[in-house]
Amino acid sequence: MSTSGISTQFTEAELKLLQALVYQECGMHFDERRTHFLQDRLQRRLKECQLDSFYSYYRLLISREGKHELAQLLENLTINETSFFRNKAQLDLFHKYVLDNLLRRKQAQRDYSLRIWSAGCSTGQEPYTLAMLVADALSYYCLRNPLLVEAPLPKPVVPPPWKAEILASDISYSVLRAGQEGTYTENQMAAVDYSYRLRYFDKVGERYVVKKGLKELVHFDFHNLKTEYLPQRNDVIFCRNVMMYFDEAEQKRLIEKFWRCLNPDGYLFAGHAESLLGLTDRFALVHRNGGTAYQRVEVTV
Ligand SMILES: C[S@@+](CC[C@H](N)C(=O)[O-])C[C@H]1O[C@@H](n2cnc3c(N)ncnc32)[C@H](O)[C@@H]1O
Repeated sequence: MSTSGISTQFTEAELKLLQALVYQECGMHFDERRTHFLQDRLQRRLKECQLDSFYSYYRLLISREGKHELAQLLENLTINETSFFRNKAQLDLFHKYVLDNLLRRKQAQRDYSLRIWSAGCSTGQEPYTLAMLVADALSYYCLRNPLLVEAPLPKPVVPPPWKAEILASDISYSVLRAGQEGTYTENQMAAVDYSYRLRYFDKVGERYVVKKGLKELVHFDFHNLKTEYLPQRNDVIFCRNVMMYFDEAEQKRLIEKFWRCLNPDGYLFAGHAESLLGLTDRFALVHRNGGTAYQRVEVTV
């Protein structure tokens, strides 16, 4: 390969080596259709590191000093496309059926906590959407099922004694920082209607900033879905448009891990183009008005 900074081609063997490393580190699978993308990002990283051969870069990646560069490379390989209120039919299913079901079940057990995990949350639009839906669902539920618990003033977003936590995780530190910051442009806000904007955002200059009360429900953290140690005891997991970048073996492993990360009868939401069909018998399909989710099936011994 050349050292002049002119676009370079990598050999098939070099790309295969990198593919294997990326797969081992984060589960992302680059087949022939995505080789160009891989090649392009690899070129950028070599330039950034001022290295002129694939092997010197690869040696850096697998060295102890190369941990930071490995994280940078993975960041450059992720697709972070997202939006507020993505897949309306599925969110309706979550809001009107799943949450209602969960709240009834929990109240009967005198358990007033709700834990939802947005796995692969990108820049925060998904977890903040979930936070708005949860806050509204809880307020409405408490109107119909009052618990006679005095709420402090100003009124919290989640009515006591209920507590809701939305864990938002990703493998990319830059998207986690953006989510934590929680400021969005008019374009990014396109799907957020005015009633939500008024209640949950402040307009600061040209941008919309998530209000403190809503922000406090969402906790951003780094988690690599490839690892075994993932957040436990979730009532609902959203992992949308992430598994599609994994191969079948990795998808199966992840679904198995999600099963273990859910509370009994918990729910998993996958992306529009992702199906659990044929990959597991540990989940049952829930389908309503065009929205789909999967409910954990309990093992009987
Ligand atoms: C296309 S975005 C989807 C965002 C959001 N879930 C949605 O559907 O709008 C995929 C996200 O998954 C993250 N991701 C990819 N591989 C991951 C891994 N192994 N662990 C955690 N997050 C990962 C990416 O960094 C990216 O932010």
